[in-house]
Amino acid sequence: MQKEVKSAKFVISNTDVKKCPNDGLPEYAFIGRSNVGKSSLINTLTGVSGLAKTSSTPGKTLCINHFLVNEEWYIVDLPGYGYAKCSKDARDKIKKIIEGYILNRETMTLLFVLVDSRHNPQKIDTEFMAWLGENGVPFSIIFTKADKLGKTKLESNINNYRKKLLEEWEELPPMFVTSSENKTGRTQLLEYILEINKSIKIAK
Ligand code: GTP
Ligand code: MG
Repeated sequence: MQKEVKSAKFVISNTDVKKCPNDGLPEYAFIGRSNVGKSSLINTLTGVSGLAKTSSTPGKTLCINHFLVNEEWYIVDLPGYGYAKCSKDARDKIKKIIEGYILNRETMTLLFVLVDSRHNPQKIDTEFMAWLGENGVPFSIIFTKADKLGKTKLESNINNYRKKLLEEWEELPPMFVTSSENKTGRTQLLEYILEINKSIKIAK
């Protein structure tokens, strides 16, 4: 198992979970509100700028995008949820793609739910996490855009988030604080993924 990202390449983009790669490699999917920074974080994590398409306009990623890392595991960029400005039809379509993927993708090892570190807990995110819990989907939380906040504010926002989650959850999921701008959290996130990959290999 490679310790760093030696290679990362785009493999396939589609809207149907049945058309995703079927080589059985473990994969880690990134989800969250539109514009939260999923695609940017994927580029930072892999060290390949422009690998996942980013945009300051929400709703950039509309497909399930597979990126193969070190020929050993996948990163999956998912469409963002909750973009208020697109039509109800478009939102329903995205919801179907996301749910179809999450509930049916057997090789999805873990889902990273991204939330913007600047905001108070948003209902759309906590409800989404509750839905994951109901469906037994393992997830971790990633706070994004940490560079946009001072240390004190960042810490208090994360504490707030913990408190909010503990109103509903007995245990908190693993949490990471990241910035695609200055690479905060990149090493921790990568090490976390590589450790899981290792444990999967050993279990086999
Ligand atoms: P959709 O594909 O539309 O759902 O969005 P996304 O979640 O993939 O967001 P994307 O990575 O495209 O980033 C949205 C905007 O936020 C872009 O303008 C990025 O430059 C900016 N952005 C993302 N991550 C960071 C970060 O860590 N720090 C700062 N300052 N800006 C960021
Ligand atoms: Mg995107």
